[in-house]
Amino acid sequence: MNTSGVSQPNLNAASRKNLFRLRDVYRIYGQEPVAVHALDGVSLDIHAGDFMAIIGPSGSGKSTLLGLLGCLDLPTKGSIKVDQTEITDLEDSERSKLRGNSIGFVFQQFHLIPHLTALGNVSTALLYRELTKPEIKERSLAALEMVGLGERHDHRPIEMSGGEQQRVAIARALVTDPLMILADEPTGALDTKTATIVMEIFKNLQSENRAIVLVTHDLEIAEQMDRVVSMRDGKIVADDLRSERTDALEDRFWEAGKGGKLE
Ligand SMILES: Nc1ncnc2c1ncn2[C@@H]1O[C@H](COP(=O)(O)OP(=O)(O)OP(=O)(O)O)[C@@H](O)[C@H]1O
Ligand SMILES: [Mg+2]
Repeated sequence: MNTSGVSQPNLNAASRKNLFRLRDVYRIYGQEPVAVHALDGVSLDIHAGDFMAIIGPSGSGKSTLLGLLGCLDLPTKGSIKVDQTEITDLEDSERSKLRGNSIGFVFQQFHLIPHLTALGNVSTALLYRELTKPEIKERSLAALEMVGLGERHDHRPIEMSGGEQQRVAIARALVTDPLMILADEPTGALDTKTATIVMEIFKNLQSENRAIVLVTHDLEIAEQMDRVVSMRDGKIVADDLRSERTDALEDRFWEAGKGGKLE
């Protein structure tokens, strides 16, 4: 862990492109005296190539942080830069465009559209691109093939297992070739065997041009990531690289879970 106050891995980070730069970010819900300080002064750099877990007890701010990284929400105060762009200065429409072009989101409950096929669901991510229908179909099929579901492209969510539905959701997140894939408990609704398959897909999606950030409650999943950021009470309390990790992660889990639930 570094001591600069800014959460950033020190290994090779300088040589990799900085995708996201958060400085002194606060997210406060509601008004005093009942305000909730969901993020309480977070500074974090995320680089191209990062394969990162965010862990911490329930209520520690993980989903809030992911929502800010995904440009779904804005901080109460603080700076968030994507490349050189300060996203808090953008108009809503510009921020939506940035999100559509640069970020893929995967949720615990898949969030697929029930009446659309797998192909239809993946295609929704490309609807606002200037692409022809055949181009959309070709790219969407290629994304489904990347998650091993090319042959099931005409199935609706109800005709697929939970693991398959999550793979469709991952295909939808990656079809735009985003700079960053964000996933909030992507294996939380899956059994262990299916979770392993989904984790293999995330591993295969690693690229030096892209960051992958997963929120998880699962120590076994966090252990497979190159970088683990631990949160507690809206703050980042540790930032560990696999290369520097010994057997400390289990302790970190325990520490992160102090004062809260960490299943
Ligand atoms: N829209 C909201 N309005 C008010 N408070 C909120 C809102 N969203 C989150 N919070 C509060 O902010 C804090 C952080 O919530 P967040 O969802 O980020 O936690 P989390 O670490 O993702 O938890 P979990 O592991 O249970 O998903 C919690 O105290 C939560 O109750
Ligand atoms: Mg959450």
